[in-house]
Amino acid sequence: MRISDKLGARLRELGVELRPSVPLSEKTSLGIGGITDQLLLRKFETIPDVMHLLANENIPHRFLGGGTNVLIADGELPYVVLHLPTSQPGMRVEGNAAYVDAAADLGGMVTFCAKRDLGGMEGLIGVPGSVGGALRMNAGAYGTQIGSYVREVELYRASTGKLETLRGDDIRFDYRHTSFAPDDVMLRVKLELPTKPFKDILAAIKICNEKRRASQPLNQKSAGCIFKNPPGGSAGRMIDELGLKGHRVGDAMVSDRHANFFVNVANASCADMLRLIDEVRERVRVTYGIELENEVIFWKN
Ligand code: EPU
Repeated sequence: MRISDKLGARLRELGVELRPSVPLSEKTSLGIGGITDQLLLRKFETIPDVMHLLANENIPHRFLGGGTNVLIADGELPYVVLHLPTSQPGMRVEGNAAYVDAAADLGGMVTFCAKRDLGGMEGLIGVPGSVGGALRMNAGAYGTQIGSYVREVELYRASTGKLETLRGDDIRFDYRHTSFAPDDVMLRVKLELPTKPFKDILAAIKICNEKRRASQPLNQKSAGCIFKNPPGGSAGRMIDELGLKGHRVGDAMVSDRHANFFVNVANASCADMLRLIDEVRERVRVTYGIELENEVIFWKN
């Protein structure tokens, strides 16, 4: 999707930086994604005006965070992609509260808080992506999920066209699912974290890192786990038992290290990855009678 010169000029007046024809394969951890114009926002306060301008011109849009849990279609994309502003470091601590920009890096947040003796989030250390993406999905690992620590979220509500603040108690955080509306845009979060000495946090972080290194293909292009675990079960174990590690469609492959990670071994297309996902889902359905649900978010055109 291309932004016209006239609209581009008006967006620039709102401080938006425009980058034309960006291959989103460069912005996703899977290395997959078509081409579109990219808009970098400078201030949260301008979001309602930017949204208004885009709506008036009938320009569809999507917000892209860290790009680590998304599978984006190939080719010319029928929407523009927006990126939220963040200051450096995008986070501060006051007592047991941490205030963090949604665009900040999740792992960076865990270490920033750890250095100030605030713990609890050790399990999230190796989860790639932005804080906003982690909030939306209620990211979790090794017994930790981000939702447990959320006290307030500032967001842009597309349904009202306004910036709003939600209390943590008013948000439901379930397994890889939250009660945010699909078009809510997380902007900033306040977390409340338990006090813990830095050296103890560091020791816990080290253990999580070792477990992750031993079981996940960290140096390959992936979006983490492709499927959610079914209640009481493990998608990775089922796919492994079916002997599907190393199974390929084009350059999309079931990781030979962790069967719920699908990796892009060279130049996989979105179509390759989708076929691989469908094939594996079908094999699991036939053998186990379980319909696996995607954990990765698919941006269909
Ligand atoms: N297993 C196999 N073969 C495999 C992979 C796993 O037999 O190829 C077995 C393991 O031996 C273990 C069980 O399956 O007994 C569970 O595996 P693991 O501990 O790796 O956890 P997981 O359920 O596959 C979940 C999250 C991960 C998170 C880890 C660690 C989901 C879908 N996945 O994986 O999150 O890192 O626990 O807490 O909930 C993600 O969200 O993208 C993600 C990777």
